[in-house]
Amino acid sequence: MEKERFYITTPIYYPSDKLHIGHTYCTVATDAIARYHRLKGEEVMFLTGTDEHGQKIEDKAREAGVTPKEFVDAIVEGPRGVKDLWKLMNISNDRFIRTTDDYHVTSIQKIFRKMYDSGDIYKGTYKGKYCKPCESFWTESQLKDGCCPDCGRPVTDAEEEAYFFRLSKYADKIQHLLEDTDFLEPRSRVHEMVNNFIKPGLEDLCVSRTSFTWGIPVDFDPKHVVYVWVDALSNYITALGYGNDRYHDYADWWPGVNIVGKEIVRFHSIIWPAMLMSLGEPLPKKVFGHGWLLLDGGKMSKSKGNVVDPYLLAEHFGVDALRFFLLRTFPFGTDGNFSNEALIQTINVDLANDLGNLLSRTVSMVGKYFGGQLPEGSGASESDRHLAEECVKEHFIAAPVGPEDNAYDMSLIVQAANLRNLYENQMEHYAPHNALAEIFKVIDRANKYIDENAPWTLAKDMEANGPRLAHVMYNLLESLRVCAILLTPFIPTSAAEVLRQIGACEKCSTWDSAAVWGSLPGTVTVQRGENLFPRIDMDKELAALEQAAAEAKKAALPDLEVEPQLEEKVDFDTFCKSDFRAVKVKDCQPVKKSDKLLRFTLDDGTGTDRQILSGIAKWYKPEDLIGKTLMAIVNLPPRKMMGQESQGMLISAVHTEKGEEALNLLILDDKIPAGAKMC
Ligand code: MSP
Repeated sequence: MEKERFYITTPIYYPSDKLHIGHTYCTVATDAIARYHRLKGEEVMFLTGTDEHGQKIEDKAREAGVTPKEFVDAIVEGPRGVKDLWKLMNISNDRFIRTTDDYHVTSIQKIFRKMYDSGDIYKGTYKGKYCKPCESFWTESQLKDGCCPDCGRPVTDAEEEAYFFRLSKYADKIQHLLEDTDFLEPRSRVHEMVNNFIKPGLEDLCVSRTSFTWGIPVDFDPKHVVYVWVDALSNYITALGYGNDRYHDYADWWPGVNIVGKEIVRFHSIIWPAMLMSLGEPLPKKVFGHGWLLLDGGKMSKSKGNVVDPYLLAEHFGVDALRFFLLRTFPFGTDGNFSNEALIQTINVDLANDLGNLLSRTVSMVGKYFGGQLPEGSGASESDRHLAEECVKEHFIAAPVGPEDNAYDMSLIVQAANLRNLYENQMEHYAPHNALAEIFKVIDRANKYIDENAPWTLAKDMEANGPRLAHVMYNLLESLRVCAILLTPFIPTSAAEVLRQIGACEKCSTWDSAAVWGSLPGTVTVQRGENLFPRIDMDKELAALEQAAAEAKKAALPDLEVEPQLEEKVDFDTFCKSDFRAVKVKDCQPVKKSDKLLRFTLDDGTGTDRQILSGIAKWYKPEDLIGKTLMAIVNLPPRKMMGQESQGMLISAVHTEKGEEALNLLILDDKIPAGAKMC
């Protein structure tokens, strides 16, 4: 039987700057959906890429003193660039398209000409408003308070000879597509599109520019370059070989599913289907417009300077933990507020406490009570299997009332047996957050099952309770198995490790087996392994993250951009409360397991030693500081770092030199006695 085919795409991102956590969110979500379809046994094509033309990139390259191609090459292919980021995040894309790729350029010229030849593109004069950061043209009536309705920034007048696409011709068809089919989801976005864009009257779209050159030339009129959205939207088909010889599988894969952020739904649900109608090609199966990750309630954007660096988070917390957090926390279709606290909280609660503990407790109990291998007869009984089959067939989700001692088993088995269906239903509706919630209900149930059965009490009389204890362990391993299979699209590496630790063979790690209770052999052998998700110390990590982010920010700023900033004013009384004083270094040692911290023992003039930890190991050798007179603030609340208390802060001067942070402690004249106040 031929396998089902599934084609899915992310937007192609602008390489005008490094990508941030918002882009990562979209790519990770699309990756999880792609992996889910692969897990189900479908053939999948997953495409992502970069949208490299346009005035913004031309301007940025000029500012940087390089050609546009050099500029985008560095961001896409360079160290810690777009491709590196997707590799780090374990993204399983099959293709990566760059709109500067030759084959794409060839296709765009053909697409443009085809629409021109059919009369859907014509020459005219463009008068309108242009938003440079968004590369969007607007009519007066579309502006919001005179500014770009997407980003709120000012727009400029623009007038030029241009080619136009007859978008107006397709208005009725598009309205029908949006209102009468489930082409665009979530449905809440349909209203917005129809009311804001179609009902006021769809105007023809300006699809060429003469005001800049960094784009694909119209081959029959080369002073024009193709409008960047026509160039960009077509990537979904040019990457399959439409209009070029680089690939030949357009007919195999198209139409597919386009996952996009809500701010570009307009392009994908109006312009894109109209272009395809004009070309006589099938429309996407679906356009899904996901919500934004917000920071302090507002959109993250490089130009606002409030972005979160995915590299930093992945390196700190691990790739799977970050992937998991993004998809577990934010409902896919709506906006959500990003915070480091929420990230740590999710890791601690769901991954460390719930999943991590369930795994480590189960595996270690099988080790402790049975030497790592369950004895013959521990597996699923006939009635367990029957119960599981029935509840899937009959769609019941509550356990039938059964004999008292069996009630816990039945309730766990019913929930685990139903999981795959519930999960599938959510994934098919692009609700990965709900799919994860279903998994965690079972994990929760299994954790309770441990308490209900109190294995440690059963183990007190192995002769009488051994078989029951072994069956309890088996049920826990089975529940973990089903959950781990279904977690694979979200946390591929960790899910594989769970399956390894519980001793699941290849055959009992498949999609099919996730719906068959009792797939794990009764005499399964577990393998102890590392703690998958260690608990995180919230305060320590938040401080470390803050420091790392500040360092990264400073390191990223070229010298020229670092202007001395005057900080917010404090009143004189507040200033006077700060206890700055001279301190003498009695001892200074490196802090174990830290390459940043030094531990100082200081004479602060009070007669009692003061301990201060300072992250300056990069700049000073401990022995060089002993005996020196430094300046410290000593009435900050004490803080723990690497398990040790720091009672204040040493004062240093910080500046940037050749893109590197430079730091100098304020070293005072040794004549100044310890404890002398600075004022
Ligand atoms: N190049 C266009 C897309 C062309 S697709 C044919 C573009 N690029 S972009 O770099 O601005 O990336 C936009 C996409 O990145 C959004 O649609 C969204 O998927 C993702 N996100 C960017 N910032 C985001 C958040 N703050 N939150 C969630 N997703 C975000 O537009």
